[in-house]
Parts: sequence; structure tokens; C-alpha cells
Amino acid sequence: MTPKPGRRPKPDRLVIASHNSGKVREIETLLAPFGVAVVSAAALGLPEPEETGTTFRANAELKAVAAATAAKLPALADDSGLAVRALKGAPGIYSARWGGAAKDFNLAMERVQRELGAAKDRRAQFVCALSLAWPDGFCETFEGTVDGTIVWPPRGDKGFGYDPMFVAEGARETFAEMDPDAKHAISHRADAFRKLVAAYFAA
Ligand code: IMP
Repeated sequence: MTPKPGRRPKPDRLVIASHNSGKVREIETLLAPFGVAVVSAAALGLPEPEETGTTFRANAELKAVAAATAAKLPALADDSGLAVRALKGAPGIYSARWGGAAKDFNLAMERVQRELGAAKDRRAQFVCALSLAWPDGFCETFEGTVDGTIVWPPRGDKGFGYDPMFVAEGARETFAEMDPDAKHAISHRADAFRKLVAAYFAA
């Protein structure tokens, strides 16, 4: 099924273009109500493309298009991260890399705090770009954000990544102190998913 721009057929099988099993599980759960069969890029043995884009959108698109053309099936990819205003949007697309080879986000959070120093402006945003690509390369991207503030020291042990240092606007707890369901109701990923679902999966 190859859509033309302006057409949005509901995919009945979808590749999740991620080798991160946590992300695949989260996307599977979000898609469960819509009767779409999902398979992961890892299960199909697809290679992981290098993330050479300079924006969340570019990286999500290149991952989705690579998987869709290789698997000859529609594919969904996401790229996400933390953008801190006083750091000109850093760590941004390098959010995962700031954790280093060991993916140590205590170190990554310490770096954010060190680089912020005494900055008064502690505003930040989590961003998620979600791309749906088709085997002919047609691709649509939905972006979600959640605004908040960087706090120090980090608090909570429930989430992942930078969650312990992020308090969403209107909340008192960090994302890592919140119930996962409460986080998922307001997160950048949920925001992007709502837009994807409205475009492709709503009845
Ligand atoms: P990606 O897998 O290349 O998209 O990397 C995303 C990185 O951004 C993760 O490794 C986390 O460090 C960070 N990140 C993205 N979403 C969240 C979130 O919901 N909470 C905390 N950190 C996140």
C-alpha cells in the first residue's frame, strides 16, 4: 500500500524502526487499540542507520525511510531528546550521546547542570519527532513537545534518561517521581502519538 501525498491509508502492518526494546514495547502499547500488527526492525534483522541528521525530524525520517524501504512495509521511527533553552537547545539530538558509551545519565544530567551553572533561565523542553514512512519513501512526521524546568539535584527513580531533572509545566514532581501513566499522559511522545493517531488511526 503506497500512499500519495494527501492520502492516509491506515497501515495494517508496521515495522517499528528501533533496536531499543523499551521503545518498541512503548510504541506497541500505544498502537495496541488500533489493530495494527507490529514487528521490530531488530526482529527483521534490519541494520541501524547512522543518525546523521541535524534535527530530531531529520533523524526520525532517515530511520523510518531506511526501515520501510528495506522491509517493504510501512515503518515508524521516533527521535527524541531534551532541549535546554540557556544551552541553545543542547543536548538536543545528542541527548543519548551525552550519556557516553555506558549510557550513564547521571553523568549526562551532571553535565547539563554544570553547563547551566548559575543561569537563571532553567526552561527546557522534551521533543519527540515521530515519522511514518512507506516503501516508496513517502514519509510524514508528527512532532510533540512538553515544556518544563530543569531542577537540581535530580529527584525520583521511575523514568529514564533526563527524567529526574525535569519538572513539566504545572507539575511539582519530576518525570521520574511521577506515576508512569501520569508522565505518559503529558509527555512529548504522547503528544506526537496523538497527532499520528488522529491522522492515521482515528475511525
Ligand atoms: P534516541 O533514542 O536517539 O531518540 O535518544 C533519545 C534520548 O533522549 C534518550 O536516550 C534520553 O536520554 C532522552 N530522552 C528522550 N525521551 C526522554 C524522556 O521521556 N525522558 C527522559 N529522557 C528522554
